[in-house]
Amino acid sequence: MTSPTRRNFLKSTAASAVVLGGVAVYWPRSAISSPMGGMTNVLKIPALETGHDEGGVQVYDLTMQNGVTEFFEGYQTPTSGINGSYLGPTLKVRNGAAVRFNVTNNLGEPSTLHWHGLHLPARMDGGPHQVVRPGKTWASEFTVKQKAASLWYHPHLEGKTGEHVWRGMAGMVIVEDTESDALPLPNNYGINDVPLVLQDRTFTPDKRMDYELSMRSRMMGMVGNIPVVNGTYAPFFEATTTKVRLRILNGSNASTYNLALDSGANFVQVATDGGFLEAPVEVNLLQLAPAERAEIIVDLVAGENVTLLNVAIGTSSSGGMGGGGSNNAPAFPFLEIRPATSLTQSAALPARLTEMEWLNPEDAVKTRVFNLEMQMGMGSGGGNPVSINGKVMDMARIDEVVNLGDTEIWELRNVSMMPHPFHMHDVQFQILDRNGRAPAATEHGRKDVVMVNTGETVRIIMRFEDYADANAPFMYHCHILEHEDAGMMGQFVVV
Ligand code: C2O
Ligand code: CU
Ligand code: CU
Repeated sequence: MTSPTRRNFLKSTAASAVVLGGVAVYWPRSAISSPMGGMTNVLKIPALETGHDEGGVQVYDLTMQNGVTEFFEGYQTPTSGINGSYLGPTLKVRNGAAVRFNVTNNLGEPSTLHWHGLHLPARMDGGPHQVVRPGKTWASEFTVKQKAASLWYHPHLEGKTGEHVWRGMAGMVIVEDTESDALPLPNNYGINDVPLVLQDRTFTPDKRMDYELSMRSRMMGMVGNIPVVNGTYAPFFEATTTKVRLRILNGSNASTYNLALDSGANFVQVATDGGFLEAPVEVNLLQLAPAERAEIIVDLVAGENVTLLNVAIGTSSSGGMGGGGSNNAPAFPFLEIRPATSLTQSAALPARLTEMEWLNPEDAVKTRVFNLEMQMGMGSGGGNPVSINGKVMDMARIDEVVNLGDTEIWELRNVSMMPHPFHMHDVQFQILDRNGRAPAATEHGRKDVVMVNTGETVRIIMRFEDYADANAPFMYHCHILEHEDAGMMGQFVVV
């Protein structure tokens, strides 16, 4: 792999750093955001919820609620969360377990809760058809049928997903199985196995996080000016082991993050959206589009702080980075990791993590083409700003009918002027190629979101298993939530 030297890397990616008292400070876009005092807040760790047993079913009680959150000392920001005021607990489930998520809606308005990346019956999916009315409880019950992975959950109400996620409703799901049990990876939750929900939010001068779409955010998606991690502003994390495992979710509405360490050091990616890569992959830069996840292992040195940064990246011709008109965020720090002066030694990483069953394009019975489209100038042609195959989401229209058991290729063509992270429900897919080139090692695994850059054609392959229901559709859509809400979404049924 041709990785830039440490010096060149820093020069090319962290140019907007300002050094204050020996600490590099990266400027977010707005004046109120500058963490002049450095990273001063202890990273919040979402509660770990393992459920309780009710007659062989593992039950999780989740309440969507409104509240206030103190991102900034002395300011109570109105927010929403699950079992709390902002974000929700991390739900730990096991492959093979029967689970029930009881979702109670105390928001005072309709919403839904969708299990992003989980393979389950469409009626249990929590998509736009499974609306939970105010004051009601919806039970989503199914058997976990997938390998260890870091997944997540968030509202999915038609036309309102962007606003509900922005207010704070999202959480992580950790699937464990016998394979993850056996791997010598850090797995002590909150200690050396740390969930990181990366987001950006716009705060008004009085620290409100209003969801107001401008002309620009209608087109480009809602991009904030303050980074938050697990709902923490300017966070630090105190590490006690020589390796930490970070389960990273890009939980933003619309921003693509390019993650690196301020030291320029390499780190190791072990998992993508749907679980472990076949083998660890060493990188010094990780791009995560909205809704994508990755698990990385970072090596620490006692007493030497290291900061997880978002670096500013422009357009690049290789590796699927960036693209014209993208929402690549400017440079700023997400999290400072502060290792103790003496660390517990972690186990060495295994050479192999899992065995993948690679789907064969020759087994595909059908190729479906999806054109991802935008129209510039809202007035032109009276059209919607975003669409897929010329169509805008219609809850009453089924766009694609898939046969249970089939393997298919979906060909995603970005014919618009900005990148779109394409997501589909029900399955984990594999990327066959980007403009004919094999995907990078970091995305050569189970995926449920794939960035499709401007002018790019990405072919993905998937097999539709276990669940068929002619009357309950699954969604596919752009995961820039403002695009999804504007109708860049379609529905498929498996029959
Ligand atoms: Cu993350 Cu259709 O959702
Ligand atoms: Cu989803
Ligand atoms: Cu989009």
